[in-house]
Amino acid sequence: MRPGAHIDGTIEVPGDKSISHRAVMFGSIADGETVIEGCLMGEDVKATIGAFRSMGVPIESRDDGRVVIAGRGVSALCEPDGPLDMGNSGTSIRLMSGLLAGAGLPVVMSGDASLSRRPMRRVTEPLAEMGADIVTADGGTPPLRIRSKQALHGIRYEMPVASAQVKSAILLAGINALGDTCVVESLPSRDHTERMLRSFGVDVRDGDSGICVRGGQTLSGTRVEVPGDISSAAFFLVAAAMSPGAELRVNNVGTNPTRTGVIEILRLMGADITLTNVRDAGAEPIADILVRGSRLRGIEIPVNLVPSAIDEFPVLFVAAACADGTTRLTQASELRHKESDRIDVMAAGLSALGANVTTREDGLEIIGGNTLGGGAIDSRGDHRIAMAFAVAATAASAPVELTGCAAIGTSFPGFAELAMRVGLDVAARE
Ligand code: S3P
Repeated sequence: MRPGAHIDGTIEVPGDKSISHRAVMFGSIADGETVIEGCLMGEDVKATIGAFRSMGVPIESRDDGRVVIAGRGVSALCEPDGPLDMGNSGTSIRLMSGLLAGAGLPVVMSGDASLSRRPMRRVTEPLAEMGADIVTADGGTPPLRIRSKQALHGIRYEMPVASAQVKSAILLAGINALGDTCVVESLPSRDHTERMLRSFGVDVRDGDSGICVRGGQTLSGTRVEVPGDISSAAFFLVAAAMSPGAELRVNNVGTNPTRTGVIEILRLMGADITLTNVRDAGAEPIADILVRGSRLRGIEIPVNLVPSAIDEFPVLFVAAACADGTTRLTQASELRHKESDRIDVMAAGLSALGANVTTREDGLEIIGGNTLGGGAIDSRGDHRIAMAFAVAATAASAPVELTGCAAIGTSFPGFAELAMRVGLDVAARE
């Protein structure tokens, strides 16, 4: 990656990862055909597709993101021949643990080195409370074993952390449980599960007792249109927002309000961002996003925006390092449990490029304004760290050499090509 980019153009990004996973999962346990348009064909979603194929679900998929699933209901799932390999994907393993907890078949779910370090008790504990026979490895990590058919019963669960994966796992288990299951959140996490379950015909209520589903409901196959992933768009939104003179349009991006923290935070930092052509794509709002580059300023990141920007902090830290003044993030210790410890890994990488970063247990402080220098960065196999440093390189005074970029394929196949198209100077050597 070399500095000095001039960023402009009009692009689209691949389909939303969270929505694609859910569309494949719900289509696989629904009765009847589900057709997904614009499904993300990244490694994480392919892991979900592969897992349901191993359980006997006929799924046809094309590289252009059209996926057709011949669903026959949850009871038609068959016991797979061996462990289901979830690769790098936390969303797959956590949501599927809830979906399979009461499905009546023994299953083992495992993953790569990064996934094998991630905490799973946050899902297995509430699922066990519902009556599931589910265990983790020692230390609370994968592999996860669902051992036998258990009759689940509904629970009321107060979420200790804002996590859509935990919320979704419990609600999905609730569909196969006796009675009502309710989840209570202190701050709203992404609500794609609730929206999409409704489009598959499930009654999901959202009121004083939390987000509730009644057990014993079935899903009916439907058509799902997947919007562009705002988490992928974020790399380009930040690259353009912090480059005076840049003008970039990203079309057809999902703008669900539980996901737009990155736009709100960038605006607080002084970014010029306009949403046009706001409309609905099925159950989700989408828009075209226009960004004009300017000099950004550091801010105190409002705590209520943390869940809706949780995956965008790596690249927002890059914006903070290049902005004037200090940016402070607190109450974001969840970042330590992502594909890598995103507080320590980003702090180490930005410091190596000359930024002034101090970490805390639940966040960090970045004193911006220094021009970043060049250097060698290891993205530690974390897709969003790799892409964040590709953006950092556009503002650096010397080349940045990034290793461990293969992981980008988990969420954003084609990132390097698209980056070059809008003016980022990226050359792949791996
Ligand atoms: C996701 C939820 C978030 C997010 C992840 C995808 C989802 O994780 O970081 O990339 O699809 O539900 P948590 O549920 O752990 O917050």
